[in-house]
Amino acid sequence: MSEPIAHFNGKLLPLDEIGISPLDRGFIFGDGVYEVIPVYDGTALHAREHFERLQRSMDAIQLRNPHTVDDWIACTQALLAHHPGNQSVYIQVTRGAPKKRDHVIPKDLQPTVFMMCYPLSSPSREAVENGVACVTSPDFRWEKCHIKSTSLLGNVLARQISADAGATETILLRNGMLTEASASNVFVVKDGVVAAPPRDNHILLGITYDLLARLAADGALKLEIRPVSEAQLRNADEVWLSSSTKEVLAVTTLDGKPVGTGKPGPVFRRMHSLYQDYKSKLRKARPVAA
Ligand code: PDD
Repeated sequence: MSEPIAHFNGKLLPLDEIGISPLDRGFIFGDGVYEVIPVYDGTALHAREHFERLQRSMDAIQLRNPHTVDDWIACTQALLAHHPGNQSVYIQVTRGAPKKRDHVIPKDLQPTVFMMCYPLSSPSREAVENGVACVTSPDFRWEKCHIKSTSLLGNVLARQISADAGATETILLRNGMLTEASASNVFVVKDGVVAAPPRDNHILLGITYDLLARLAADGALKLEIRPVSEAQLRNADEVWLSSSTKEVLAVTTLDGKPVGTGKPGPVFRRMHSLYQDYKSKLRKARPVAA
């Protein structure tokens, strides 16, 4: 099979022909930001919102954006021309490769841009119908979780806790409050009311989180954006995960105990169907990327 085509600093190249300097600050310091955009048969879901978030991440780390949102969308379309079907587009921008290792941010360095595609692994029918297992852990990450940074060691170690337990995600608690999961946002449902933690520096503000908030409003579901305590998480009738790749998934066991009835609940089923309707309407309205 031929090597997949990827984007590197403005060029489309086979993945194995791309070489990155060992002095690149992405390699040395994890000094970079990234995005993951789901694509359904050529239609990118919320590409503009993802590139706007990329801009916010870059602003937060004082990194100059080499492209406008429209440029980014054009790069995405050019890459997707080589990758039909359902894809994840991964975009990474690092601060670039200086001449020497120094923590201080160098001036006038050319950022390194890398984009690749890989087949989108959407949740299985089994995961949607039966829900998934999660475990909890203290949130030992830093105070700037709103930045979609490639420095993901905290998230990697958090995810490994659930991987070792044979679970899908690790749900994180900071000072007795729910934040998010290692690579997803988290929602809880009690007595028919959905709640999600506030949009602050302790969570990544998910594009899917925002979409679920809009779908809840359009679908007349009650949603509260407010702090959620550990007790509220553990006593919830339903717990959900959301992300660009997981869409919305029900958590049916938490730390080995059933959540609610131990089956995906009615509010989840309603949200899942609102999400699927939204996706298919978007594909009809915009048959090509972005
Ligand atoms: N992860 N929180 C964290 C820590 C995440 O890494 C992600 C996404 C989310 C959900 O964001 P969104 O809805 O915009 O995908 C929340 C991506 C998919 C990843 O790192 O692969």
